[in-house]
Amino acid sequence: MIENAESRNEGVLRHLAVIMDGNGRWAKKRHLSREIGHRRGAENLRTLCILCRERKIQYLTVYAFSTENWKRSAAEVGALMRLITLFFRKYAEELEQEGIRLQFIGDRTNLPAHVIETIEQAEESSKDRRMLRLIIAFNYGGRREIVEAARSLSLEILAGAIRHDDLTEQMFAQHLYLSDVPDPDLIVRTGGEMRLSNFLLWQAAYAEFYSVDCLWPDFGAAELDAALDDYKRRHRRFGGR
Ligand code: IPE
Ligand code: IPE
Ligand code: MG
Repeated sequence: MIENAESRNEGVLRHLAVIMDGNGRWAKKRHLSREIGHRRGAENLRTLCILCRERKIQYLTVYAFSTENWKRSAAEVGALMRLITLFFRKYAEELEQEGIRLQFIGDRTNLPAHVIETIEQAEESSKDRRMLRLIIAFNYGGRREIVEAARSLSLEILAGAIRHDDLTEQMFAQHLYLSDVPDPDLIVRTGGEMRLSNFLLWQAAYAEFYSVDCLWPDFGAAELDAALDDYKRRHRRFGGR
């Protein structure tokens, strides 16, 4: 969604995005398998949803699996695919009680059938919930998202529905996954790295970025509040004075 600085409620954080990194290192420190690290990570996502709901954050987007994560071992990829289905089986009822709407962004074409079924069911059964929208980036890549938007726009241009020189940023943004969601105000990355790793490349244009060494399974209320306090002290100028 494209907005100008004036239309924003400055200081209020509506959309939080989190790069949930560090599950592997968390497990390694404890001599546990990476799979257990991911399981603890998934449990922590449930905690984060509740914390965000309590703090009246409207949108929470989390990076769960990137288009590059297929490079990992077949065992780890398989575990991550199974985890998404297990997560919804385990927490479906609680997500409903909490009024949490689910949405998935990413490329669904080469996902296992059970994952697609989980995704579709979670989205369909939660579409009328209003407390918090949890957006899970799964098999997501910012570059792929932008290329897909370019592809569908070029079809419209070829069909004569729009003229190529009429194309605007707003029209382009309408072809991205989150066309009805405000851009993220704050992107938090756990695990200490200082990069986006192909997350929300378009939407991150004016997001505040916050990196914390804490590994994802250890990121709790105190760490979230430290990030939110830091955000409150930022001056967002959007290129203005
Ligand atoms: C993040 O944790 C979860 C995914 C990328 C799926 P990692 O698995 O990347 O954990 P580290 O970075 O190896 O510690
Ligand atoms: C980013 O973490 C992706 C997710 C958290 C899902 P990675 O661990 O894949 O990123 P890099 O490899 O450190 O850039
Ligand atoms: Mg990592």
